[in-house]
Amino acid sequence: MSTLRDLAEEHTALRPADIDHLHRIAGDWQLLSDLSFADLLLWVPVDGDGTFLCVAQVRPTTAPTAYLDDQVGRIVGGAEVAHLEVAHRQGRIWREGDPVWYGDVPARHEAIPVRLRTGDGEAGEVIAVVGRDTNLSTARTPSQLELNYLTTADDLAQMIADGTFPPPRHPGETTSAPRVGDGLVRLDANGKVTYASPNAQSAYRRLGYASHLVGEDLAKLHRRLAGDPLEGTDAGNAVLAALRGEAPPRREIDARGATMLTRALPLMPAGVPIGALVLVRDITEVRRRDRALITKDATIREIHHRVKNNLQTVAALLRLQARRVAMPEARVALEESVRRVASIALVHETLSMSSDEAVEFDGIVDRVASAATEVAATEVSVGMRRRGTFGVLPAEIATSLVMVLNELLLNAVEHGFPPADEEAAAPAPADAPRPEAEATAPRPEVVVTAHRARKQLHVSVTDNGRGLPEQFDAERGGNLGLQIVRALVTGELRGTIDLRNSAGGGTEAAIVVPLARGTTDRLTGRAGPP
Ligand SMILES: Nc1ncnc2c1ncn2[C@@H]1O[C@H](COP(=O)(O)OP(=O)(O)O)[C@@H](O)[C@H]1O
Ligand SMILES: [Mg+2]
Repeated sequence: MSTLRDLAEEHTALRPADIDHLHRIAGDWQLLSDLSFADLLLWVPVDGDGTFLCVAQVRPTTAPTAYLDDQVGRIVGGAEVAHLEVAHRQGRIWREGDPVWYGDVPARHEAIPVRLRTGDGEAGEVIAVVGRDTNLSTARTPSQLELNYLTTADDLAQMIADGTFPPPRHPGETTSAPRVGDGLVRLDANGKVTYASPNAQSAYRRLGYASHLVGEDLAKLHRRLAGDPLEGTDAGNAVLAALRGEAPPRREIDARGATMLTRALPLMPAGVPIGALVLVRDITEVRRRDRALITKDATIREIHHRVKNNLQTVAALLRLQARRVAMPEARVALEESVRRVASIALVHETLSMSSDEAVEFDGIVDRVASAATEVAATEVSVGMRRRGTFGVLPAEIATSLVMVLNELLLNAVEHGFPPADEEAAAPAPADAPRPEAEATAPRPEVVVTAHRARKQLHVSVTDNGRGLPEQFDAERGGNLGLQIVRALVTGELRGTIDLRNSAGGGTEAAIVVPLARGTTDRLTGRAGPP
């Protein structure tokens, strides 16, 4: 299925600005279709051969369609498009002619030229034609509502021909605009209501206004309903702006627990401001659901906050215990546990402040790194640096990765740069540097690097310390720390780890973690089978 842009670029000489304008029309013309009780087809002249190509179509939600088949992509010439040709060449709305028949369906054809105003507001050229085709099979004497709709439709059609409809878009409007069927109010040039559809009347009733709207000054009414008669509410000002010929953004009015979305559009056929059209929609239920979602988000954040608090409590208890045990080995083990638990708490602390289940990881790494340097004996001051960025990581990766980095960073500080007395105690090789030579040795440093490439996260932790012990089994060797690291990297993270002596002396741990977890279960956050 080709898009409007594809079709126009392939078959016509329209410029990008023209095509943008056609997109704006197609974004806003449901309104015209509904008010007209008619199908709208957007026709563009095919380059040079007198035929027209249909690039977009919309059906009315208020009446039966004249076209059961999709018309987009059709190229038509000859008598069938003679009315489009007139509108295009003469730049005026064409509405003469007898009904035409599509199979069993009698239809009335109209053609509205689409003009794009120039940058300085001059009426520009006609770039396309909107075909307005009404299915006449159910036509009957129009009701009050229908007459009002049709009058307004004609005003908007003229504004398409003038180049003043659709109005400019307001960025960031997410809730879909109110439609004709949601509720429609028409105002005269003085801002008095001349017509209100039954649904509009009901929407205002929910806000607490029970009388008839006809004759009311709508801007004043909006202010009254919003309980702010002096200041002037946004919704009141929007009505006034539309009466001045501007196209204000949509506004909401809250009153008596109900919420109504309003969209005010200027009516100024042939450049004459004759009033405004105000579409209203009762969005009380939508807003209620929004609020429920916001509460759910807040609840999840609160849970992360409590998990963090609980983990910190566990860490504090272990720390107390560590101070009480006499056996050095037991104390070291408990202190390591304190740090492991604290590193997980960091992730939950970050999650409790973020709006989704993902964390900006660099900040976490930097905190784990600075905690690791504090472990080093006071006489060895180890510098920490991070190169590159981890970016935003999903919670399930972040939790495992922070534990891995915690172990590697601690090892680098603890084993790469042992305190002098420990080093002296160790059976040093005969050619080991003498202590006095240390002044010229490179400054002890640990570097964490991170970069993303091809949906993988590459991480390394490198120190310039004394390197891995001789005959160290990089695949299997080590104690609990490296066991945790390998289990998390190859298990939870589905990645790889390579532990080796680095080129410049010291130790390097290189980790690769896949980031695209296609089978992640949104509910549990756990990766399913690959
Ligand atoms: N960056 C490093 N520099 C030197 N040796 C290291 C380094 N990382 C790990 N090692 C060696 O690997 C061993 C195992 O580490 P690990 O499994 O974390 O246990 P632990 O830290 O409790 O000794 C360490 O005792 C040390 O000999
Ligand atoms: Mg260790």
